Amino acid sequence: MKIGVPLETTPGETRVALTPLLVTALLRDKHEVMIETGAGLRASFTDAAYLQAGATIVPDAKPIWAQAEMIFKVQPPRALPNGQHEADALREGVQIISFLAPFANAEVIKTLARRKVTAYSMEFVPRITRAQSMDALSSQATVAGYKAVLVGAEAMPKMFPLLMTAAGTIAPANVLILGVGVAGLQAIATAKRLGAKVEAFDPRPAVKEQVKSLGATFVEMEMPKDAETAGGYAKELSPEFIQKEMEAIGGRLPKMDLVICTAQIFGKKAPLLITGEMVKLLRPGSVIVDFTGDLGGNCELTQPGKTIDVSGVTLIGAVNLPATVPLDASGLYAKNVCNLFKHLYPKPDSTPDVADDIVKGACLTRGGEIVNETLKKTLSL
Ligand code: NAI
Repeated sequence: MKIGVPLETTPGETRVALTPLLVTALLRDKHEVMIETGAGLRASFTDAAYLQAGATIVPDAKPIWAQAEMIFKVQPPRALPNGQHEADALREGVQIISFLAPFANAEVIKTLARRKVTAYSMEFVPRITRAQSMDALSSQATVAGYKAVLVGAEAMPKMFPLLMTAAGTIAPANVLILGVGVAGLQAIATAKRLGAKVEAFDPRPAVKEQVKSLGATFVEMEMPKDAETAGGYAKELSPEFIQKEMEAIGGRLPKMDLVICTAQIFGKKAPLLITGEMVKLLRPGSVIVDFTGDLGGNCELTQPGKTIDVSGVTLIGAVNLPATVPLDASGLYAKNVCNLFKHLYPKPDSTPDVADDIVKGACLTRGGEIVNETLKKTLSL
């Protein structure tokens, strides 16, 4: 199969959907790979490295749109500054594997269906054990959790570790992590490695033990009865519970140096956990890193992509943190994409098993229609 990898055109996106190492693996399976010149450069993968791995380098995206049978991307197809839309460039019958942000991107998904594109969304790969190697939400959340702590540390006026020196003792930083999914766990581990005292909260019952196992303290409060779905995802919680949670968080804020906000509910607005008034409970000099701003924000004042000062507190609206660590984020993402591709096409001449749970979950459009039941329900189709 002819696989094409265009340069990502989304501002700030530095990742690439395929690495030279994986080109070699695809060629071994008798596929062909076309890479747009410079596609991997921001992630430290040169054209020369792709060439050496056996890929063809093309001067722009046109040959990819015209000839590729399968396209690997990081970001959803988007409107270009020249007025064209990448989704309109896709040929009828072509396949694409990418993050497609289906809930925020209904019009693009409808265009993909109209153009008879078979689109696989990395967000919709089911979170089941069999699909763990394809789970790009987890791989990118790991990177985001790690980087959120470093971004916070950089903005703080104090160090993380306890230091006892002849010149005096420096107290360790206090860090609060809200939301302990994949990103939150990695944030805890990173903050602990830097020497901070870490507290964390998540309403899912299984999380308490995970927090403790990383050497952090679980913020104790009465837990909600019905916090997660059968699949282990967080559910939207009652306003009464969120109120109690805010009180518990508010009680912790005066002693915190850094708060990392990661709380999300799949397909929904992020829960509001820190009001504008609550930000003022933090001491001047403390920092909030909120990377849920695109989903409404855990903090009321978060502005995605901006850092603001709120009465001496630095509030960072972090966006696309994985793109700030493009080498490793691309390495993990490309592996997830190739694992999904290999699942779809175990042999070059196989056809995807549309009844398989992973294929059914990830496939959004096929044969001119939106075929994903979850998405159809959400878009009320
Ligand atoms: P996410 O990025 O969707 O959300 C982050 C965290 O926010 C979640 O842990 C959620 O419980 C939490 N949250 C929601 N409402 C909150 C509130 N009011 N206050 C504080 N925290 C709140 O989560 P992620 O990282 O995608 O993981 C979600 C679940 O999926 C976890 O249970 C994880 O273990 C599971 N999972 C399963 C996998 C598998 O079986 N293959 C792979 C990866 C994750």
